[in-house]
Amino acid sequence: MRIAMIGTGYVGLVSGACFSDFGHVVTCVDRDAAKIGELQNGKIPIFEPGLDALVASNVEAGRLSFATESAAAIRAADAVFLAVGTPSRRGDGFADLSYVHDAAREIAAEMDGFTVIVIKSTVPVGTNDEVDAIVRKLRPDADFTVVSNPEFLREGAAIEDFKRPDRVVVGTDDERARRVMRELYRPLFINETPMLFTGRRAAELIKYASNAFLATKITFINEIADLCEKCGADVQEVARGMGLDRRIAGKFLHAGPGFGGSCFPKDIAALAAIGQRYGVPIRIVETVMGVNDARKRAMAAKVVAACGGSLAGKTVAVLGLTFKPNTDDMREAPSLVIVPALEAQGARVRAYDPHGMDEARKLMPRLETATDPYACIERADAMLILTEWDQFRALDLDRVKKALRSPVIVDLRNIYRPADLAAKGLTYVSVGRG
Ligand SMILES: NC(=O)c1ccc[n+]([C@@H]2O[C@H](COP(=O)([O-])OP(=O)(O)OC[C@H]3O[C@@H](n4cnc5c(N)ncnc54)[C@H](O)[C@@H]3O)[C@@H](O)[C@H]2O)c1
Repeated sequence: MRIAMIGTGYVGLVSGACFSDFGHVVTCVDRDAAKIGELQNGKIPIFEPGLDALVASNVEAGRLSFATESAAAIRAADAVFLAVGTPSRRGDGFADLSYVHDAAREIAAEMDGFTVIVIKSTVPVGTNDEVDAIVRKLRPDADFTVVSNPEFLREGAAIEDFKRPDRVVVGTDDERARRVMRELYRPLFINETPMLFTGRRAAELIKYASNAFLATKITFINEIADLCEKCGADVQEVARGMGLDRRIAGKFLHAGPGFGGSCFPKDIAALAAIGQRYGVPIRIVETVMGVNDARKRAMAAKVVAACGGSLAGKTVAVLGLTFKPNTDDMREAPSLVIVPALEAQGARVRAYDPHGMDEARKLMPRLETATDPYACIERADAMLILTEWDQFRALDLDRVKKALRSPVIVDLRNIYRPADLAAKGLTYVSVGRG
């Protein structure tokens, strides 16, 4: 089948590359000429493990191409996917749908023959209906249908998630669209991925409700971690004991500095705004937002306390800036709150991240960076682990101790064992291990 992918960001590029790998012919379109120029020159504009090889092999096979103009790709497509951004709207937290609406108008202008318009972007309830109305108004004659197909991939494991998802959700009641969607995802039937057909509004809500639930789980264990610190329990043991209960399950029960990223913060804000709009405030979600925001600030206070109550004139070495490992995505990363808070307390901050430093410098232009973890911690008064990149898990602790001016390690991801650090004479502060 022929696919036009409108929006070639983290989701559009991964989805487009994977669909082409399934055997479909895909054109990934983006307004950002620099991004498309890089892709046309064989460069991948984001860091996502395995994506470079996947893109290269499908370009080579003639199934994947890139364009800044959408017209030809839309005209030729059986399915036009929207994978444009839906960021938080300033002020009310509702999703900014301007990119979705623009793309809908572009599709309406060009589509030719029966076209399935597939909304992969995360969008509020009713957006598929809105897109349907926009396109219908511009092209009353056209043969098309709008389908909701939210994406659940995680950055850092995006290809695996796309190719082996827990489920594919398709919101439509149109039988022709179902046939097209089944054909597009046919390779997944081999590993028996459930394809869940729902109404469009249910599909839209499944995405938000899933993200809100996971964000709630993280926030729950973070509060339990605070309690553990006060009452002398270890949150890792508590989480393990909870997670072995299959009704709860162990994932997303890792205490840390609060969630960030391109999805959870904006999606829970949007769900809260949707609830308000319908007169059904979702109080759990509203609380999670507040608790998570406060948590990031509280983490800076934890560093101050570990450094003896003052950061004036001290250097803090930060290992990890991205919101999680294996991505260069800095959107809403806890570091964006914690680093400025440390600087405001008088600290000089020096940071190292394997793939996030270019993005981080755009957002924190004065940020001092180092070329590797050991250079980062040299003569620092404390080492702060903010992202659990694999390369931070097995640092040479003797070398760490020698490099630091004072032997203080604040580990907000709990990647070390307290006993190991104590044995080396390092002062170790982690999360929820009272
Ligand atoms: N990033 C994730 O992990 C993830 C996971 C699941 C769902 N989502 C959802 O997928 C959507 C896309 O997210 P993302 O992280 O890929 O965003 P992104 O910002 O990385 O990419 C969006 C791209 O769309 C392009 N664009 C906007 N309007 C366009 C238009 N009219 N024509 C062509 N290109 C256009 C932008 O230039 C940008 O490159 C969002 O709704 C997001 O919530 C993201």
